[in-house]
Amino acid sequence: MRVMVVGSGGREHAICWKLSQSPKVEKIYAVPGNGGMMDEPKVVCVDIDVKDLERLCDFAIKNEVDLTVVGPEEPLVNGIVDVFEDNNLRIFGPRKESALLEGSKVFAKEFMREMNIPTADFEVFSDPEEAKKYIEAKGAPIVVKADGLAAGKGAIVCKTVEDAKRAVDYIMVEKAFGRAGDRVVIEEFLEGEEASFLVISDGTNVIPLASSQDHKPVFDNDEGPNTGGMGAYSPAFVVTEEVWERTMKDIIYPAIEGMRKRGTPFKGILYAGLMIVEDKYPKVLEFNVRFGDPEAQPILMRMRSDLVDAIMASIDGKLDTCNIEYFDDAACCVVMASGGYPGSYEKGKKIHGLEEVAKMEKVKVFHAGTVKREDGFYTSGGRVLGVTALGSTIKEAIDRAYEAVSKIWWEKVHYRRDIGRKALRRLGLVD
Ligand code: AMP
Ligand code: GLY
Repeated sequence: MRVMVVGSGGREHAICWKLSQSPKVEKIYAVPGNGGMMDEPKVVCVDIDVKDLERLCDFAIKNEVDLTVVGPEEPLVNGIVDVFEDNNLRIFGPRKESALLEGSKVFAKEFMREMNIPTADFEVFSDPEEAKKYIEAKGAPIVVKADGLAAGKGAIVCKTVEDAKRAVDYIMVEKAFGRAGDRVVIEEFLEGEEASFLVISDGTNVIPLASSQDHKPVFDNDEGPNTGGMGAYSPAFVVTEEVWERTMKDIIYPAIEGMRKRGTPFKGILYAGLMIVEDKYPKVLEFNVRFGDPEAQPILMRMRSDLVDAIMASIDGKLDTCNIEYFDDAACCVVMASGGYPGSYEKGKKIHGLEEVAKMEKVKVFHAGTVKREDGFYTSGGRVLGVTALGSTIKEAIDRAYEAVSKIWWEKVHYRRDIGRKALRRLGLVD
């Protein structure tokens, strides 16, 4: 079959890499793709803007694409699945009304309240002064969130009441995220350890994927501003069997059931960003409607089963007949970024050492912001590479990933040195 993968990040590279291993897939169009994807077997990059749903749809029709897989949230929230389905094209993901779980924090929070899904206590405001009064009454720490999509930057954790009021002005008055700031959610600050819990659904049936943990802040020890994610590993030890069962029973099943009852069945990947409180109680920080980036990199590297089978079963409503298996190995992905990211950074730096790393076993370098030129790869974005390794233990996976990272270099490269440390701490291997 001919497959189209929409997006250009490390997650999409991992999706292309995994799909290209399927004997059922003969060709993959990566739209727009990146430098690294060009080197994958079966993959051709096509330069179409992912906002241009009409052109994407035309391309799929003209090139007889049998299946489209969407990486990022924006096209899903904009209704790419509706446009494709209306043209009788097979596409994996939620329709626009179901993608609201990520597209609108207000919708997601109200839905959770209605379904009794555990989440931080909250109120919604469309008037900044009312929001500030509420903050004063509640006190700090407190969290202020823009309603709409804000490229992962719309949630501001505030240590003081003053900071929270400034966050309200930033989002609602200065409109830092445009219309996404017409409304805000103000919510209770939750303490605990975070985990990413992804499932695939066909609207009724659910198969959970392997657990994982992201590292959002840019510096070690979770310091500095939030990024799209600086690294991830799988499985996440904080997701114990007890937490896993609670997450399925209290969060995933009610969410899938609730969306079906609303008349907007959720098909695709549902990603619950969890805060595990007291190591026992999962609460939802956010829902996403797609694979995580960088969580997809370690999860897909661990996956033994053919991803095409699960995707087709999701589209056809037959996930109950499907099974997803994993290798026993753990996986760790360290993101190498441009110095300065998530603020401003320089592009066009030559990347050294990739040939050396290509010789390593159980290591795969997923590209994000790279371009390929005649003499090699150059940086072209904030997150540049996701260096991902398997290991028979999580420690082995982490050590192998960092061994590979140590061979790669460009001017002003930045990466965290503590990806996976929370897992090692739980195993008593570090303080
Ligand atoms: P979100 O985009 O809603 O997932 O928020 C981004 C990040 O902000 C999360 O990964 C958490 O680290 C943090 N965060 C969001 N909501 C809360 C909360 N209620 N309590 C504590 N931290 C939060
Ligand atoms: N890794 C966070 C996200 O994909 O939203």
